Parts: sequence; C-alpha cells; structure tokens
Amino acid sequence: MEEARGEFLEIVREARVLMGRERARGRGRIAAAATEGSAVADGGDAAAAVAPDASGGTISAGWPAETLALPGFETFASTARASTAAAVPVSLPPAIPIGPREDLPLDLPALANLVSSCRLCSLCSTRTQTVFADVSPTARLMFVGEAPGRDEDAQGLPFVGRAGQLLNKMIAAIDLKREEVYICNVLKCRPPDNRVPAPDEVERCRPYLEQQIALVKPALVCALGLSAAQALLQTKASMGSLRGKTFTYRGIPLIPTYHPAALLRNPGLKRDAWTDLQRVRDLLREMSGAAPAAGEAR
Ligand code: URA
Repeated sequence: MEEARGEFLEIVREARVLMGRERARGRGRIAAAATEGSAVADGGDAAAAVAPDASGGTISAGWPAETLALPGFETFASTARASTAAAVPVSLPPAIPIGPREDLPLDLPALANLVSSCRLCSLCSTRTQTVFADVSPTARLMFVGEAPGRDEDAQGLPFVGRAGQLLNKMIAAIDLKREEVYICNVLKCRPPDNRVPAPDEVERCRPYLEQQIALVKPALVCALGLSAAQALLQTKASMGSLRGKTFTYRGIPLIPTYHPAALLRNPGLKRDAWTDLQRVRDLLREMSGAAPAAGEAR
C-alpha cells in the first residue's frame, strides 16, 4: 500500500515537472490549416513542421488547475491554482461549415439505418451487426476510434469492451460523462481478428463518418489512435508526430491521442494521453468561454 502510494506520488511529481516544461514551451497554440483536414502543428513540438496559421487564429490554453488522473484516469486530486485560461482572448479558426452530403441521409437515425444494411465492403459478410455510435447527438466533443472489436460487434455499440472502460475513465477525467459525448469509429463493421482497417475499407466507410461529423457538428474531435487520426487528417504520419498537436478538420479543432487499447498495452503512454486530454478539456472550456472555477472543485 505504502509502495503504491509512493509510486503514485512519484508519478504526480513527474507529471508536474512535465507540465511545467510544457507551460514553459508555450504550449496551447493552435494553428489553423490552410486547407481542410491538413495537419498543422501547434507550436508545442519543436520537431514538428509548423505550417503558417492561415486564419491567424491562436489559442493560449493556459493551464487550469489540474485534476490529476494519471494512473487509470481516475480522479485522484484537484490542486487549487489560478487559471489564465479565461483571461486570454480566444480566436478560433473560422468554422468552415462541413455541410452534410445531400446524397446521404440528413439525420442521424436515418444514416444509422442506412449503415446497418451497408454492403460496400467485404466486412459486411463477417460482421454480426454494424456499430454506428453511442450517442449524444448534441455533443460538443466527438471521439473517433478505429473499428468495432468483438464486444462492440456483439452489442452494436462502440467502445464497450476493456478499451471502452478505459475510455469512460478518460472521459470522466476531463469532467464529462459518456452520455455527453459522441463516440463512433472510422469503420462501422468489425475487421476479422481486429486487424487494422484496410485502406479500401476506410474509403468505403469514410462518407458515413464525414456525414456523422457534419450532422453532429461537434466543437472538437478527438481522434483515438493512429487509424482515426490518419483517416481524418488524410495522412500517413506516425502517432509520435501527430500527437501533442491540435489540427483542424474542416474548421473543427482535432486533437489526436493514443487509442485506449494502446494505453492498456502500454500504460507508460498514459502520461502523454493525459496531456492530450487536458488540451481537449481546456480547448472545450475556452470555446464555451467558461472560466474554470477557482480551485477547480467541479
Ligand atoms: N476499439 C475501437 O477503435 N473502437 C471500438 O469501438 C472498440 C475498440
């Protein structure tokens, strides 16, 4: 018990050091892409090629008092610290309306219905059922994963297995409830043996995801894992080069982070994922103009 507590305190200490470094590096700058879906660094990563900020939009995220939720993204403690987030004027990239396609259903239930009978790729012959979304249609935050796994294929809902349980903790760690966010995947059908989606499967399924985004109109998209980040940003870049930055997808800020399954395999990645999630939380707050409460006892 004492040993576990010691370990936890050590992680907290390290996290504070890392956060201090991040602050010093002036993290939080978001640069809008000149072209939709293009990848733009936020200026927080020296190794990244920073594209010009086409819109002149910048966000200084500041750092509200942290909820330390590293080990399993459980909430452990809040530290009182004044935030600068509310004081900084926010200038987001202009939202380029991602208009829904007229050749697809213009409401989510009808789109889900269409997806349920989709036979555009061979995954239709191995799926139990399609997995469309779980679902607050008015969510400000959308998580996009890779594809249904076994549990999701069986239940018809995304992220209900072990990775889903960790995703629930990640959502709670940023003070949201699962019912308040929109969760979906790049693919709507399970690839056999949970293999990585094939490029043609991604392309066949892409219109459904794009239509979901166009209809939900989230304020922010969080891409869970490489498949989602690559599919949305239409890039072959590595996770290492994508995470830690804020991109725009058709005018919507997009933050890539590690897939919960990757965090289960490699808990050492949780520290970076937590940094990404705090960015998600802070950006959502800034966009809503919400001032983080002093002491952050929310
Ligand atoms: N992994 C995903 O990418 N999506 C799910 O729905 C479940 C696991």
